[in-house]
Amino acid sequence: MGFLHSSAIFPVFLIFLFLFSWPITSSANSHEDFLRCLSSSLSSNDSSSISRLVYTQRSSNYTSVLESTIHNSRFITPTSRRPLVIVTPLHVSHVQATIRCSKKHGLQLRTRSGGHDFEGVSYVSEWEAPFVIVDLANLRSIDVDVEKEVAWVQSGAIMGELYYAIAQKIRTLAFPGALCHGVAFGGFISSGGYGRILNRKSVGEDLFWAIRGGGGGSFGTALSWKVKLVRVPEIVTVFSTSRTLEQNATRLLHRWQYITNQFPDGMFPSITLTTTNTTVDDRNRTVVATFNTMYLGRANELVPLMQNVFPELGITTQDCNEMSFVESILVLGLLPLENLEILLNRSYRIPYLVATPSFKAKSDYIKKPIPEIGFLGMWPQLLEPVARTVSSAA
Ligand SMILES: Cc1cc2nc3c(=O)[nH]c(=O)nc-3n(C[C@H](O)[C@H](O)[C@H](O)COP(=O)(O)OP(=O)(O)OC[C@H]3O[C@@H](n4cnc5c(N)ncnc54)[C@H](O)[C@@H]3O)c2cc1C
Ligand SMILES: *[C@@H]1O[C@H](CO)[C@@H](O)[C@H](O)[C@H]1NC(C)=O
Ligand SMILES: *[C@@H]1O[C@H](CO)[C@@H](O)[C@H](O)[C@H]1NC(C)=O
Ligand SMILES: *[C@@H]1O[C@H](CO)[C@@H](O)[C@H](O)[C@H]1NC(C)=O
Ligand SMILES: *[C@@H]1O[C@H](CO)[C@@H](O)[C@H](O)[C@H]1NC(C)=O
Ligand SMILES: *[C@@H]1O[C@H](CO)[C@@H](O)[C@H](O)[C@H]1NC(C)=O
Ligand SMILES: *[C@@H]1O[C@H](CO)[C@@H](O)[C@H](O)[C@H]1NC(C)=O
Repeated sequence: MGFLHSSAIFPVFLIFLFLFSWPITSSANSHEDFLRCLSSSLSSNDSSSISRLVYTQRSSNYTSVLESTIHNSRFITPTSRRPLVIVTPLHVSHVQATIRCSKKHGLQLRTRSGGHDFEGVSYVSEWEAPFVIVDLANLRSIDVDVEKEVAWVQSGAIMGELYYAIAQKIRTLAFPGALCHGVAFGGFISSGGYGRILNRKSVGEDLFWAIRGGGGGSFGTALSWKVKLVRVPEIVTVFSTSRTLEQNATRLLHRWQYITNQFPDGMFPSITLTTTNTTVDDRNRTVVATFNTMYLGRANELVPLMQNVFPELGITTQDCNEMSFVESILVLGLLPLENLEILLNRSYRIPYLVATPSFKAKSDYIKKPIPEIGFLGMWPQLLEPVARTVSSAA
């Protein structure tokens, strides 16, 4: 899976809750006190629907709510620490009540939007301290303003929902975010902190920018984001071509690192490395490098461009497909192309994630090209039966 990082897109506004000091208390009753606090903080309307907002370990739906966005079975083991309570706010005031009550009764708080954290920090705890999850999955409204070319997006919205919402309105605007459609907005751009609602002005420029990449509930709970959209052509082009080790994949990969900086700005090149068995023998496996590239333009421009900078890859018109931007997200995200509604399906996982329920992932920036011998060193590890897939983006 390629990771598309939206370096050109900035949140221009956000709402923020803060709380810096966290009292350390260890009362066995803190849990009951917390629940009492929460139910008295909610309006009478909300109290009647508290069963839709609050899940304790005794609730029949506790496990399904907890696991609804746990994508990595490494974090669902008998020894995993579980939250005392999960709160699934339907309104901003519910978030505030949860934060206030957890502070008051000495419970740690984890903020979860889409649960895609690589180390599960939005829902697991390394510490003994009892904790509460505020799960923002229901706060997911999206408001696309075509005229102003912006969108307001609540933290619990998944990327797929935003791509879909934009595409429903217009073909020529887009938000370049994660390829994995289930990644949520909250974690994609932000990170954590807690109490008063602040905006960019009252939070101050330094902190406003610091939250990008802060991570792990360290700053606040971001509720909603206003993002700029970018203009894209009505038709973009995607090519996809695969090479095995026997077809010189190693040499092409190595060369690719020196080629991509010659690409124009409107190009998103990515490579996925997988393994496959050769036709002859199940046990004789090989590595396949799939070169996937999206270009903000037509095939008749892309083909000569590729032939010029990277003739070794031999890209022809047959390798290219013209489509809308949102369709290109399906292709690059390895989603089936048949219907756009798949972007709205929060439980859909691409086959290779289904095949690897337990995984270790890491995003990194490579500053120096990997030498050919570096790739050669990776292949035996990839070809081990346990590690079938590695991902990469250039
Ligand atoms: C299978 C998979 C595929 C991925 N694909 C891509 C990809 O294609 N492109 C890409 O760029 N990245 C990708 N990622 C990485 C992903 O963008 C980050 O892990 C991101 O932080 C997940 O956001 P989330 O809201 O889904 O996760 P969460 O686990 O809910 O949150 C991640 C972190 O942000 C904090 N947080 C969440 N919501 C808020 C909030 N509202 N306010 C404050 N803090 C908050 C959490 O406490 C946690 O520390 C992928 C991850 C996985 C597991
Ligand atoms: C409470 O619910 C009633 C009936 O559904 C509704 O008319 C009223 O506006 C609600 N009040 C609040 C504060 O949401
Ligand atoms: C529990 O989950 C079931 C099935 O998803 C749902 O029908 C039911 O409304 C849920 N109950 C509560 C209290 O959330
Ligand atoms: C691999 O590279 C060699 C040497 O350049 C070349 O002769 C051969 O045709 C290439 N193989 C494929 C499948 O492209
Ligand atoms: C290769 O792998 C596939 C999928 O795992 C399997 O169905 C097939 O039997 C294997 N062997 C060959 C020779 O294709
Ligand atoms: C494995 O497959 C490759 C490609 O088909 C072939 O060149 C090689 O000889 C095979 N090795 C074995 C041990 O079968
Ligand atoms: C969403 O995806 C899941 C998992 O693949 C599937 O079982 C379900 O039918 C899909 N839902 C819809 C509405 O398509």
